[in-house]
Amino acid sequence: MNFRRLRHYLLARLVERRPSLYLRLKGLAHHALAADPDFLRIHARLVRAGDCVQRLPERYHLWALARAAAGQPGAWAEAGVYRGGSAELIAAAKPPATPLHLFDTFGGMPAVAAGDGAFRPGDFADTSVAAVRARLAGSAAVEFHPGFFPDTAATPALRATSFQFVHLDLDLYQSTLAGLEFFYPRLLPGGVLISHDYGDATVPGVKGAFDNFLRGRPERVTPLWLTQGLLVRLGDPAASPVG
Ligand SMILES: C[S@@+](CC[C@H](N)C(=O)[O-])C[C@H]1O[C@@H](n2cnc3c(N)ncnc32)[C@H](O)[C@@H]1O
Repeated sequence: MNFRRLRHYLLARLVERRPSLYLRLKGLAHHALAADPDFLRIHARLVRAGDCVQRLPERYHLWALARAAAGQPGAWAEAGVYRGGSAELIAAAKPPATPLHLFDTFGGMPAVAAGDGAFRPGDFADTSVAAVRARLAGSAAVEFHPGFFPDTAATPALRATSFQFVHLDLDLYQSTLAGLEFFYPRLLPGGVLISHDYGDATVPGVKGAFDNFLRGRPERVTPLWLTQGLLVRLGDPAASPVG
């Protein structure tokens, strides 16, 4: 066992066996997650696997938003799955009957543009759709769409789908823009779209895509700790008068 794997193993044991000590060490003893054993369990699994690119605050945002979306109408989706770390977290928060659509090449990054930072075509290739399928085998209603996005979303069934919860983690300008173009018009009022890397200056394509896409639209992005950006789809104010 190399040092990195040993570190992940010991950290996961700490989260599992002594969650209150772990949270004290993190300065989070009084945080809501101290009373959320389901989150701590899945967090420990991700720490042990060592292949989820989300950090603890980002995992918690995904978990909290997904749990808040549970029970609401509409499907869920993730574009940018890699080895299925964040997908495992989202699937654990999902009611069994809610469809979760997963989009990725499952074979590495497609073409990368000059403004996309240090990414290279083929990055994140050490995965496979079979491996992620096996990882999520315990979760119901998970549908895989392997291949180049948005081509993989161009089916009549997906084009007719409404979404309540969408996680984008595509890193690249064109991919993120394609994600916004596909999901935004299909997001239900009050539905959430959260993206990784919105606030990460080394991943400039993500913020660039949001800024360009939202120009002239009423929604704004709320930057979250560490790098995520959150977009909540507004409804038609005329449709539900208050007072
Ligand atoms: C950072 S990884 C996702 C990490 C994962 N969400 C996690 O938390 O572990 C980014 C993924 O986006 C995928 N990707 C980027 N652009 C894509 C596109 N146009 N079509 C399909 N997959 C794409 C890559 O294949 C890669 O697996």
